[in-house]
Amino acid sequence: MLTPSGLLSVAPFERKNLEKFLRSISSGGGTKSSSKSSQGLSQKLGVLGFFEPSTRTKLSFEAAGRQLGISWLDLRPEDLSLQKGESLEDTFKNIALYGVNFFVIRHSASYFPHWVHRWTQLPVLNAGDGTNEHPTQALGDALTLYQLAKGKKLEICFLGDACRSRVAKSSIRVLKNLGHRISIVDESRGENRAFAKAFEISLAPRKKLSSFDIVYCLRLQKERWAQAAEEPLSLSELGKTSKLMDAGPVIWGETMQREIQNLAPERNLILKQAENAFLVRLALLQELQK
Ligand code: CP
Repeated sequence: MLTPSGLLSVAPFERKNLEKFLRSISSGGGTKSSSKSSQGLSQKLGVLGFFEPSTRTKLSFEAAGRQLGISWLDLRPEDLSLQKGESLEDTFKNIALYGVNFFVIRHSASYFPHWVHRWTQLPVLNAGDGTNEHPTQALGDALTLYQLAKGKKLEICFLGDACRSRVAKSSIRVLKNLGHRISIVDESRGENRAFAKAFEISLAPRKKLSSFDIVYCLRLQKERWAQAAEEPLSLSELGKTSKLMDAGPVIWGETMQREIQNLAPERNLILKQAENAFLVRLALLQELQK
């Protein structure tokens, strides 16, 4: 899946390659069990450059890398000479001098990981850039549905702040590419209507949520000036069969009512998504040795 620039976007993914990647992880080919393939990674040095908070993405990359023998430099933006006024470009050009092999970058500015690649010429794994993309989340989501669907094409409905959601942008592209049918709810402000048009997906009335195989809840991006538009999802809206996805963090009471915690575990895919995103990151780090 990686290119010489790393993994900046899901845009270049072809369905055939996506399916091959997901099949490989599902069959255990992308996990640490292929220890022979992780040997080449023992000398690699990666940089964790997270300029926004993260639990799942940062720590899963770090944990996966440790399993593979990768050493990490953990950039803490508040400790860097950025605080003295140094530019980001000079910061990254200096860091690249220290035997670094690749970067994992999260930033509030869309396309910032692309700039890090341009400045350093090193592979960059995009760990979330502004409102633009979150490729490894999308691959973890795709893996979750690959395991669930077993070849069936699913009806998936997104609920929430899609316009400002990098998760929505990457996951919708990947899941559409894999042949799933995607809809989005927009009943309050009309923002998602333009989004649906741009992404060539359908609009769905909220009262039909229970007819979907999957309801994918999107966090309100308050750090990007979003205000609540939709009521929190309720258990009854999921009906008797719809399964639930959410990239996390889940803000209980805001996008989902707390009663959702009572959803049967086999219908709540949230932790499975996090586990699969870890497996995806492990597989991508293994690819770095090629
Ligand atoms: N889903 C996700 O990116 O979570 P974190 O912000 O905790 O990394």
